[in-house]
Amino acid sequence: MTLQVTGLSATRSGRPILHPTNVKIEPGERVGLVGSSGSGKSTLGHALIDALRTQGRHVAHVPQSPDEALDPLRSMAFHWREAESARDLPADTARRRDLFAALRIEGGDLRKRPWGWSRGMQQRFVIAMALIGTPDLLVMDEPTSALDPVVAAGTMDLLDTYLATRQTALLLITHDLGLAAKRVQRLLVMEGGRLVEDAATMQVLSAPQTPAARALCAHRNWLELPC
Ligand SMILES: Nc1ncnc2c1ncn2[C@@H]1O[C@H](COP(=O)(O)OP(=O)(O)OP(=O)(O)O)[C@@H](O)[C@H]1O
Ligand SMILES: [Mg+2]
Repeated sequence: MTLQVTGLSATRSGRPILHPTNVKIEPGERVGLVGSSGSGKSTLGHALIDALRTQGRHVAHVPQSPDEALDPLRSMAFHWREAESARDLPADTARRRDLFAALRIEGGDLRKRPWGWSRGMQQRFVIAMALIGTPDLLVMDEPTSALDPVVAAGTMDLLDTYLATRQTALLLITHDLGLAAKRVQRLLVMEGGRLVEDAATMQVLSAPQTPAARALCAHRNWLELPC
């Protein structure tokens, strides 16, 4: 079923930081949300998550850093159990095995706390947790910016493969046009709390229509980036 919200908006300290915005995403579609820093990407991402959850849709969120998702005092096993019970799902070893295999974290020791795993493995664990219960939409906010480029590209490759056979849609929030160019079919461009462009990725990259999209294209050597 199509994911659709209308009239999303946000105000902070009396100032609008997100002007009324409509978003429509098809099942399994991969969409990038790009724009310069402060353009309102994270604000729109959070507003979209809240609105869709209010509609009863299953939306998972992957933050920029695993530190935001993992408690340093808790074991990885604890985090996994919490993620399952948050979705009202019983512990399921087969599900965990499949997701761990998909994200290549089979070797991770669940008894350890986050710092016992590499950051790349931590972020893949957070992505695996987000995929529990096959969400309608996965919102990833700069999910690989804390990782080195090779690990980042590898992580996105694993996710691409996993999502290829599922109906989970992806909203990839980034100011890295190189990342978006390789991973999504459609780009939403933000500027000043507004969506100013919404078109096929290749169209935005080859013929940006707005100053915001032109600036992003001009300031990134996006074809040469690894992920
Ligand atoms: N709690 C807040 N109080 C006041 N202003 C805020 C608050 N949160 C965000 N803003 C402002 O809203 C605007 C949009 O912020 P947002 O974090 O959504 O941008 P972003 O595009 O995600 O940026 P970045 O790429 O740096 O993550 C910015 O101008 C920011 O300063
Ligand atoms: Mg942000």
